[in-house]
Amino acid sequence: MNIWRNTAAHPGWPRAVGPVRVRAGLVRLRPVRLRDGAAWSRTRLADRAHLEPWEPVAEVNWEARHAVSSWPSMCSGLRAEARRGRMLPYAIELDGEFCGQLTIGNVTHGALRSAWIGYWVAKEVNGGGIATAALALGLDHGFGPVMLHRIEATVRPENAASRRVLAKVGFREEGLLRRYLEVDGAWRDHLLVALTIEEMSGSATSALVRAGHASWS
Ligand code: ACO
Repeated sequence: MNIWRNTAAHPGWPRAVGPVRVRAGLVRLRPVRLRDGAAWSRTRLADRAHLEPWEPVAEVNWEARHAVSSWPSMCSGLRAEARRGRMLPYAIELDGEFCGQLTIGNVTHGALRSAWIGYWVAKEVNGGGIATAALALGLDHGFGPVMLHRIEATVRPENAASRRVLAKVGFREEGLLRRYLEVDGAWRDHLLVALTIEEMSGSATSALVRAGHASWS
């Protein structure tokens, strides 16, 4: 086995991240897996109105795209990207149960060492600090084992909850990307936010703990 090749091709993968405790319960990130299909489909179909205003359009309609039968190929595709070192597709777990996803995507190494981060959390458990904890865990993992230098995110200006999550872990606004992404039937402006490792004063998760928003399990 070529150890150097395995670790260098996809640093930080497939390691689980966390846990950390927030108001809703114990939050951790772990690689998506085939048996997430039922929970993924059930949640995505039930939460369509909650999710669709913020997600890029797709050619396949929502119902077909989120059928249980769609998950195996989607999951395999995500895991194949992860094996190539281009993505870290995580399930967000709350007390051991699937409750959303956090993805670190477009991972580039070399002189850029950059990636984007995005997430969603099931509506029924919103407001309990899950996304904030997941994002902090994702940032620490990205700047730590994945060895990134810059992590960015894009968010619609109207997405007040997500903007609050990004602000809570310290993301800085860099500008407005006009008509950036086709979302919910139109080309929507998005705010670009980012963090570089120099702006991190230690771990993002530890900062949440110090601020009283989370505790170690
Ligand atoms: N206006 C202002 N603040 C709000 C609003 C609102 N309408 N709704 C919620 N909030 C605040 C909450 O009070 C909380 O802040 P607080 O802790 O200071 O009180 C914060 O937003 C939410 O924090 P969490 O509880 O950590 O987040 P949650 O687990 O509820 O998940 C999320 C938030 C991810 C935005 C969820 O609602 C969701 O999945 N939405 C649909 C998909 C989505 O928007 N994904 C993000 C796309 S952008 C991106 O990925 C970078």
